[in-house]
Amino acid sequence: MNRYAHVTGWGIAVPEEILTNEKLAQIVETNDEWIVSRTGIRERRIARKDETTATLAADAACKALDRTDIDARDLDLIIVATSSPEHLFPATACLVQDNIGAVHAGAFDLSAACTGFIFGLNMAAQAIRTGSIQNALVIGSETLSRMVDWDDRTTCILFGDGAGAFVLQGSDEPGGVLSCVMRSDGSGGDLLSVPAGGSKLPTSHETVDRKQHLIQMNGREVFRFATRVMASATRETAEQAGWEVDDIDFVIPHQANQRIIESAARGLRLPLDKFVVNLERYGNTSTASIPLAMVEALDEGRIHDGANLVLVGFGAGLTWGALSMRWVEPKVRVTELDRRRRSLVTLLARFRSFLRRVQRRIEGLIWGAAARGQED
Ligand code: COA
Repeated sequence: MNRYAHVTGWGIAVPEEILTNEKLAQIVETNDEWIVSRTGIRERRIARKDETTATLAADAACKALDRTDIDARDLDLIIVATSSPEHLFPATACLVQDNIGAVHAGAFDLSAACTGFIFGLNMAAQAIRTGSIQNALVIGSETLSRMVDWDDRTTCILFGDGAGAFVLQGSDEPGGVLSCVMRSDGSGGDLLSVPAGGSKLPTSHETVDRKQHLIQMNGREVFRFATRVMASATRETAEQAGWEVDDIDFVIPHQANQRIIESAARGLRLPLDKFVVNLERYGNTSTASIPLAMVEALDEGRIHDGANLVLVGFGAGLTWGALSMRWVEPKVRVTELDRRRRSLVTLLARFRSFLRRVQRRIEGLIWGAAARGQED
């Protein structure tokens, strides 16, 4: 019997603070007309001090789980795709795992910049389809506002913060993730990067003075690359799914720039109303942009049962990819009991995390004393 990987839960988390183009114009020399005409972006969200990539991710994850009949303890795998991880390590995914109480899940971060959510969905779907796991959580989460050079008007106008999460579950019902194209070209790595803070260029006073810990981008080159790959990747994944381009009901593109999306639509000869776009309200939220757009479209009832979807993205690396999915409306009825069980699991997760730390401390003291005893 074939196994299929379906999205059964979805959720988003966005900071409340809105940074409009008008407010941005008070920070750098720019204006609303320029930003809207070149990018389509009108506003973006900016995380509060106490909001981080992991807290936004956990928030989106809990909302996604709330739509399903499973709780965090049933998850086998957590992938957090992010371009603004909390640390080099530990992985942001492990912080989310601890926070939501996913005690049986392996958790790791996936670094493929804005294409990360597509790569992550494909990895999780593959693991489900082989039968090696049953339930996975894939999250795209970002606090890019912390990595943006707020003096650089060519980049700070583009990016925003937010998170989106999908729960994927295995089933025998045909549909769900059907095919995926994953591509990279490291020769273009310098076109969009955060040069310092890794092992090649560790953080130093000099790197900070040169702002090498912040996003640097060659906008025109990235633009050219994006317009080239969006249509070709979409066409390729559709073909692998056995579809003609006209069979696609909705394209959910990475929300980087309205002009890039329009160029992809022209390249594919698809009407623009088949493209789900919300970048005017969130800007480019990197790995979170595709789930943010898709979840809003789902919540608006725009995506119908049986719809053929293509999720397509591109980003630093360079990376690009497209994933085709037949949308199957989840049939589970979430009961009040499910909801209560889940809130209890989340509540207990915090307590469990605290107990684990105390336990580790006590074990450390006992082992330390035992080791000292042996030395004496
Ligand atoms: N406000 C006003 N003027 C600005 C500006 C801003 N925020 N940013 C740049 N300009 C100016 C430039 O200085 C330049 O002026 P000049 O002609 O006097 O030198 C002019 O506008 C044109 O700049 P250019 O860089 O050619 O603009 P563009 O049309 O290429 O648009 C981007 C710039 C960044 C919007 C566009 O290149 C882009 O969207 N690239 C893709 C970026 C992307 O998607 N990155 C994320 C990938 S995941």
